[in-house]
Amino acid sequence: MAVATAAALLAALGGALWLAARRFVGPRVQRLHGGGALGLMHGKTVLITGANSGLGRATAAELLRLGARVIMGCRDRVRAEEAAGQLRRELQAGESRPDPGAGEAGELVVRELDLASLRSVRAFCQEMLQEEPRLDVLINNAGIFQCPYTKTEDGFEMQFGVNHLGHFLLTNLLLGLLKSSAPSRIVVVSSKLYKYGDINFEDLNSEHSYDKSFCYSRSKLANILFTRELARRLEGTNVTVNVLHPGITRTNLGRHIHIPLLVKPLFNLVSWAFFKSPVEGAQTSIYLASSPKVEGVSGRYFGDCKEEELLPKAMDESVARKLWDISEVMVGILK
Ligand SMILES: NC(=O)c1ccc[n+]([C@@H]2O[C@H](COP(=O)([O-])OP(=O)(O)OC[C@H]3O[C@@H](n4cnc5c(N)ncnc54)[C@H](OP(=O)(O)O)[C@@H]3O)[C@@H](O)[C@H]2O)c1
Ligand SMILES: *[C@@H]1O[C@H](CO)[C@@H](O)[C@H](O)[C@H]1NC(C)=O
Repeated sequence: MAVATAAALLAALGGALWLAARRFVGPRVQRLHGGGALGLMHGKTVLITGANSGLGRATAAELLRLGARVIMGCRDRVRAEEAAGQLRRELQAGESRPDPGAGEAGELVVRELDLASLRSVRAFCQEMLQEEPRLDVLINNAGIFQCPYTKTEDGFEMQFGVNHLGHFLLTNLLLGLLKSSAPSRIVVVSSKLYKYGDINFEDLNSEHSYDKSFCYSRSKLANILFTRELARRLEGTNVTVNVLHPGITRTNLGRHIHIPLLVKPLFNLVSWAFFKSPVEGAQTSIYLASSPKVEGVSGRYFGDCKEEELLPKAMDESVARKLWDISEVMVGILK
């Protein structure tokens, strides 16, 4: 028994080390295929929610480099300004290297947006409509993962409230601006974990029972159903909407997961060996936001910059419509 356990442990450790070594030596660049030519996004305005951390930050950095005006929709101004300052410095450092192809870089703007507050979403959108003449790309990226049971300002279960409802209201309030800027794009960041979710209409706020992983999966399934219903509604407008899963990426998303101190080094090794870096994880977001290859494509699900198939439950049109209608009532959009 002990020998078998030791052997398994050794094999696991050996495997991890081998992968780590391969990763270290291997051509990492091959995993980056979402980017485009410098200047590709020049003159375009992009809004990224949760752009101060992880995937959103890496997406902002690349779209900035491609010349976009990037609006960082963030709940904490201090954290967001700090991230924006770092991104500007990184960009400048990159530009000072001799690079004949370097185009005009874009600019970064921080605006306050707390998706756990409908009031904040409305105030944010009002400011956007007053101050931004156009919006070419909206990236619904912010997310919260497996937090303890909490409610948003408006009484929604936090993961459903932030990941789905906050973005639902945000998108609806910005649709007019996206339409007047067409051709324009909406990009929704979901997760493969949608597979373990279900839209249980009878308890959307988890008042009867709360399972943090089910609720995360449910919110990510909602992201996909939302995308498909919105794509249907946007037919003929030249506004497209697509959804993606980034793959497992080293970010701050796991902040609510407690890993025992003793296991931490092993976890760090495994995550370093197996997880994507934020830049790698952001490639599909960048691709869907900027690549000419997906012009006109709408209502699809992507991973690693390629279209992927969905489970039938994520393609159920009647559930998608019902979720849309209920979401309208929950966020108080009057018809
Ligand atoms: N990392 C992965 O392996 C993975 C896998 C599948 C899907 N995803 C998805 O990828 C997206 C980005 O996550 P990440 O991995 O980059 O995690 P992250 O580093 O934790 O970034 C999440 C961002 O969302 C923001 N956010 C959280 N609650 C918010 C609220 N109420 N209002 C506004 N912004 C809020 C965070 O702001 P603060 O910094 O202020 O907290 C942060 O900027 C999420 O939608 C997640 O579900 C990630
Ligand atoms: C959509 O784009 C096409 C091609 O540019 C254009 O002909 C058409 O008028 C546009 N439709 C709308 C509703 O803007």
